[in-house]
Amino acid sequence: MPQMRRRTKLIPWQVAGRVTERQDDTDEVVRTTGWVFNNETGGALTLEEFVETGDNEVPVYLQRFGLESEHDETRTLVEIGCGIGRMTCAFTRRFGIVYACDLDGGFLERCRQAVARYGIVSRLRTIEVADGRSLAVPDGRADVVFSYITLQHCDRDDALALLREAVRVARPGGRIALNFRTWSGLDPVLVPVGGLVRALFRVPAIGPWLSRRRLATRLAWQANRLDPHQAVGPIRHRLTDVAIWRNPARTSAPWGVGEARAEHFEGINKAHWWLVARVIEDDLNAAAEAPGGAGVPNRGSSSERRGPSTEP
Ligand SMILES: C[S@@+](CC[C@H](N)C(=O)[O-])C[C@H]1O[C@@H](n2cnc3c(N)ncnc32)[C@H](O)[C@@H]1O
Repeated sequence: MPQMRRRTKLIPWQVAGRVTERQDDTDEVVRTTGWVFNNETGGALTLEEFVETGDNEVPVYLQRFGLESEHDETRTLVEIGCGIGRMTCAFTRRFGIVYACDLDGGFLERCRQAVARYGIVSRLRTIEVADGRSLAVPDGRADVVFSYITLQHCDRDDALALLREAVRVARPGGRIALNFRTWSGLDPVLVPVGGLVRALFRVPAIGPWLSRRRLATRLAWQANRLDPHQAVGPIRHRLTDVAIWRNPARTSAPWGVGEARAEHFEGINKAHWWLVARVIEDDLNAAAEAPGGAGVPNRGSSSERRGPSTEP
């Protein structure tokens, strides 16, 4: 078996996953590690309330990004970075099959419990992303691939690998909706400090203690920042109907992504952006859209609406 690189970016999640495994029930999990997922803290927070935040967000994103179909009960969704199932419960109520993928097995177990209580568990398939970058899902299986507040927390190369995986597991003509984080405000300080904290996680004397502290963990999450051209550029030839969704405060046209619509709504965190696109149907289209193929300048359109903006 090939030796797996030990990546410090996986540590905060794995530590939270182990804490999760020790709790007696899922309400307790939400109280101790719920902040890991939606930044909400509070001694009284229950799993029901936690899942409700996902119930509110899921329809907004699906509708806003045009991902819904009247046939969703026969369609398949892949969720990259499901955590303990905050959004997965709502996905299983809508889609016939949901592949919930996460690097931590402890989270996946809790995700299954959450879906058993608040979703439709017979529709759930949990997939452990053991190497943090590949999905054990067959090619072309998904109608929709969705990921929220996850790719920003991965190693940059892993985030790009998961983006390629999203394209691989989507069927021809299937949709991807992936959330990324770009540079903002304090990031020039936060990102290097995050790297330092992750390096300290390796120090035997303090690492295990530090990786359980909330502030340290939140800093350690500051893993990568990607702009649309960096993420989308390399796989642009595999995509069509590309839209870059951002907060209306971000008005500059996304560049370096070929023909892409600029879309806006207020529910998106100012530091976030979404890639919403369709995977091309066949190789002919791929050739036409490949780098060097005909491209037209970005055109902007804008629509606004209040919506969710959960951000750990
Ligand atoms: C902030 S949580 C978001 C969970 C969920 N999307 C939500 O909105 O509640 C980020 C999740 O991504 C997972 N994650 C982080 N890096 C990952 C990777 N390389 N591959 C798969 N999952 C990853 C973490 O374990 C965690 O469950």
